[in-house]
Amino acid sequence: MVYVDVGANSYPVYVKAGILSDVGRITRDKGIKKALIVTDNNVGPLYLKKVQSALVEAGLKAFPLTLPAGESYKTISAVELIWEAALEATLDRKSLLISLGGGVIGDLTGFAAATYMRGLNFLQIPTTLLAQVDASVGGKTGCNLRKGKNLVGAFHQPIAVCADPSTLLSLSEREYCSGFAEIIKHALIASSHLLELVENNLDLIKKRDLTILTQIVEENVEIKAKIVSQDEKETGKRALLNLGHTAGHALEELGDYKIYHHGEAVAIGLVIATQIACERGYLDSSYLSRIQALLCSLGLPISPHEEISPEIWWKRTFADKKQSSGQVYWVLPKVGGLANYGEKVEFNEFAKAVRSLGKG
Ligand SMILES: NC(=O)c1ccc[n+]([C@@H]2O[C@H](COP(=O)([O-])OP(=O)(O)OC[C@H]3O[C@@H](n4cnc5c(N)ncnc54)[C@H](O)[C@@H]3O)[C@@H](O)[C@H]2O)c1
Ligand SMILES: [Zn+2]
Repeated sequence: MVYVDVGANSYPVYVKAGILSDVGRITRDKGIKKALIVTDNNVGPLYLKKVQSALVEAGLKAFPLTLPAGESYKTISAVELIWEAALEATLDRKSLLISLGGGVIGDLTGFAAATYMRGLNFLQIPTTLLAQVDASVGGKTGCNLRKGKNLVGAFHQPIAVCADPSTLLSLSEREYCSGFAEIIKHALIASSHLLELVENNLDLIKKRDLTILTQIVEENVEIKAKIVSQDEKETGKRALLNLGHTAGHALEELGDYKIYHHGEAVAIGLVIATQIACERGYLDSSYLSRIQALLCSLGLPISPHEEISPEIWWKRTFADKKQSSGQVYWVLPKVGGLANYGEKVEFNEFAKAVRSLGKG
């Protein structure tokens, strides 16, 4: 168990194969009597019954709501469906909203929980690797606008997160591999131990061995929890979590969110940030080849599918909402599993890194 220390809103993250069956006990122990479980049409058929039965067996009333899967449904209309289902189920402020799914369901349900009756209890059951190691921890919730991702949202911490690594066994290969980009990101900003753990266990990772997956998820949650507890509302250090995302988000956008999965774009973004860091002497140049080799072994791309002009790509980095006063701040890795945030990068450095992509 990892504890996310955010003052009065602190909460546990349980990482354990089989934890889905304990959800009833965990919620009953918090005095909750009624819950709405929000899931999507891929995850629902696989895990909804298990979670619902666990709650009912613990004496709770449990109502299900299944939404269509996918980022294109991460809209305010989906949030409205959750609000309406909460009303239908007569949830009150002592009730609970549960998200059962990936980051999309987690963000939507969390936002509905932050806003319905000015705030309901919220519990996350993340079922993708990305959601277990990243999205379910930290309290960021929200939905997309037509003009941009995650433009509406709220900070709303869950009362608990139950991450069951055995749910990762049903993920598609592409979704599974994509999650590793955030894992390598965490390793680069905070832990050379995690980097070695992944490097030394590639065979077990490919086989989705539950022991190694449990260890990996738990170490990632520890890293994210530590950063979040130092900067809950992202006024400083939490920006470290954007490593690889400046170039990555821009690439995702250039591909109109159709060509790259988030993790794939972030993997390429990590290569660019590492390349810039090596050029500046923050890291030995052998580090770049090491990261490239590792990302490749994890089934992630290390260069775009087709050549992209550095000028066009660079311009897109300024469209990211995280810019403040026109300046884009980068996160760059440094020696010893550390990183700097708030770094200014010049176009020439970026262009050099882009031109050398795929030539590593
Ligand atoms: N709140 C945060 O801090 C935070 C951090 C990172 C990302 N996010 C958000 O997370 C979202 C991406 O999350 P994601 O990658 O989990 O996407 P997702 O929720 O769309 O899930 C990906 C796909 O996998 C399916 N799926 C989920 N679990 C499954 C399982 N166990 N077996 C089989 N299929 C399964 C889903 O139905 C979906 O089709 C984005 O919207 C992003 O903005 C939020
Ligand atoms: Zn990310």
